[in-house]
Amino acid sequence: MSPETIPGWKDRILFTPGPLTTSRTVKQAMLRDVGSRDTEFINIVADIRRRLVECAGATTQDYTTIPIQGSGTFGVEGVISSVVPPDGKLLLVANGAYGKRLVQIARVHRIAHNVIEVPENQSPDPSSVESALLEDPSITTLAMVHCETTTGMINPVEAVGSISQKHGKRMIVDAMSSFGAVPLNVPAAGIDYIVSSANKCIEGVPGFSFAVCRKSSLEETPGWARTLSLDLYAQWQGLEKTGQFRFTPATHSMLAFHQALLELEMEGGVPARAERYRRNHAVLLMGMIQLGFKPYLPPHQQGHIITSFRSPSHPRYDFEIFYRSLQDRGYVIYPGKVSDADCFRIGHIGRIFESDTRDLLAAIRDVMAEMKMTLVPPASENND
Ligand SMILES: Cc1ncc(COP(=O)(O)O)c(C=O)c1O
Repeated sequence: MSPETIPGWKDRILFTPGPLTTSRTVKQAMLRDVGSRDTEFINIVADIRRRLVECAGATTQDYTTIPIQGSGTFGVEGVISSVVPPDGKLLLVANGAYGKRLVQIARVHRIAHNVIEVPENQSPDPSSVESALLEDPSITTLAMVHCETTTGMINPVEAVGSISQKHGKRMIVDAMSSFGAVPLNVPAAGIDYIVSSANKCIEGVPGFSFAVCRKSSLEETPGWARTLSLDLYAQWQGLEKTGQFRFTPATHSMLAFHQALLELEMEGGVPARAERYRRNHAVLLMGMIQLGFKPYLPPHQQGHIITSFRSPSHPRYDFEIFYRSLQDRGYVIYPGKVSDADCFRIGHIGRIFESDTRDLLAAIRDVMAEMKMTLVPPASENND
């Protein structure tokens, strides 16, 4: 029996970094079969590509979107393995698990690279990037993460982008969990390639990733790809010549994504979406602090995408029980990914609103009572 036929049945709400809760209409848009070479599908792909360039604050004269089959990592790997010259060198900035993944990708493809590694609770210093570029003129390309989803920190991609541009380097940004919800003017920031995926802040379903690329940079890259299926330039050329993908596209996921883009426009675009997520974040943070939880990052480093909380040191706290009790009440949170601290994470992105966030807080309060766990809020802790 399919769950939708059960009266009163409702999906759990996902307070995760993705896949995320999506609207019913986004899910319904997938209930069709379209041919990958149908004119209708070709037009939908073209409209998706155009709208994503707009979300990046760019124009189709200078930028183009290249969708890539697979999850977000496929997109990041596709870009890195396709746009660094054969004798080129990467400068990678890493302050979390996804920054480290950039390093792994460079290693796998045997691309020469230097790494600026920063602790997970610190923001990379743009001046260290400039020093690294001056020290090693063989660097051709920079790559870093925008929202480091490990902690929820928003990294200074604009400042690094302007340094990259000043030194004539190409810049790749993994904006997986921030694209469409943290306003960023990609051309003004000096970014050549920005990558995200269907199931993040645009609120589509998993199935593909995409890179919004500066055309003049992309034009330098024919023959540089280190794989066949993730060859960014070839994918671009295929789409430009025929409007079609070289290999089977995620047709259903793209139908859902197109609907998600229409819903983003109806909401008021990137600024309005950012505002809704900011509100979700602010309400959750205040409620969690009142309950005695401590965020991992200080407020000036914390973005509105996802928040990492330190696991309470209370003797009755057990993440598995906490997680399962929330799940039983209809809410899904996420384990931590910070390597030097025991944490769990709560996301603010997806089709969730302030009222859902308040419902989650009520459920957390209820679970804490059930676990007989009272935490000391910071204010009263200071008075001890
Ligand atoms: C910043 C960042 N980069 C890369 C990824 C990897 O994406 P995926 O799991 O879709 O491959 C994620 C996933 O959350 C992410 O947040």
